[in-house]
Amino acid sequence: MIGVFDSGAGGLTVLTALRRELPSADFLYYGDIKNAPYGLRTHAELSRLTLDNVSFLLERGATSIVSACNSASATLALSLLDTFSLTSQQMIEMVGPTVTAFKGYKGTIALAATVATIDSGVYQSAFHMIGKEIEAIAIPALGGAIETGKSAEEIEAIIIETFAARTQPFDVLVLACTHYPLVLDIFKKVLPGVMIFDPSDAVAERARKLFWPKEVANGSTRFVISQDSEPFRKRVHDLFGGSDYTIEVS
Ligand code: DGL
Repeated sequence: MIGVFDSGAGGLTVLTALRRELPSADFLYYGDIKNAPYGLRTHAELSRLTLDNVSFLLERGATSIVSACNSASATLALSLLDTFSLTSQQMIEMVGPTVTAFKGYKGTIALAATVATIDSGVYQSAFHMIGKEIEAIAIPALGGAIETGKSAEEIEAIIIETFAARTQPFDVLVLACTHYPLVLDIFKKVLPGVMIFDPSDAVAERARKLFWPKEVANGSTRFVISQDSEPFRKRVHDLFGGSDYTIEVS
């Protein structure tokens, strides 16, 4: 079973792509809504929450893990694998597959993410390693606004305000917070002519390479959330309504 975690609904964008790539895998998705938004938390808090989330998924029987949260992924240390006796073939995070997708890319890159992700410097370093300097843009209020189901107008206002002062042009904007692709259309509307990159497919492709065929099972989908949330239930219904799933609050 593949365990997937995020602070809330953001990882659903990754789960959608994972489901497509690995239709016969069993998925257990954990959304830590009680502690959201992760993007405003300190490095120490995120490390602890990440440990808790991985422990929870393993206790529930996960044999592979996807950290579908960039803010958590930005704090992951290799020692985490040792802590849980996992191998590097059993865990996927967001940064590696996202940056790898840009190897050889010639255009200019901007990256939007939470404060925690931008302040960690992880994306800046990883892009530097493939010879690319990026413009890193933190959008402090956006993750929480999406999680709590704020209106399209409010979301658009946050995005407009973020980009209004920017004069430096860029060819592509990487959405390095898994909540942001949930409002992909609004990004496209505010930034016409800019390619908007959702890393979900790159992460799911990595998952297929690592987890198939060992994760072939019954194709089930279960959700566990740490606090009940109507916006979360609605998003799950919108994205997975055509299939069988269960939602548990724990
Ligand atoms: N979806 C998460 C990320 O990718 C966290 C958003 C939040 O809870 O602030 O960073």
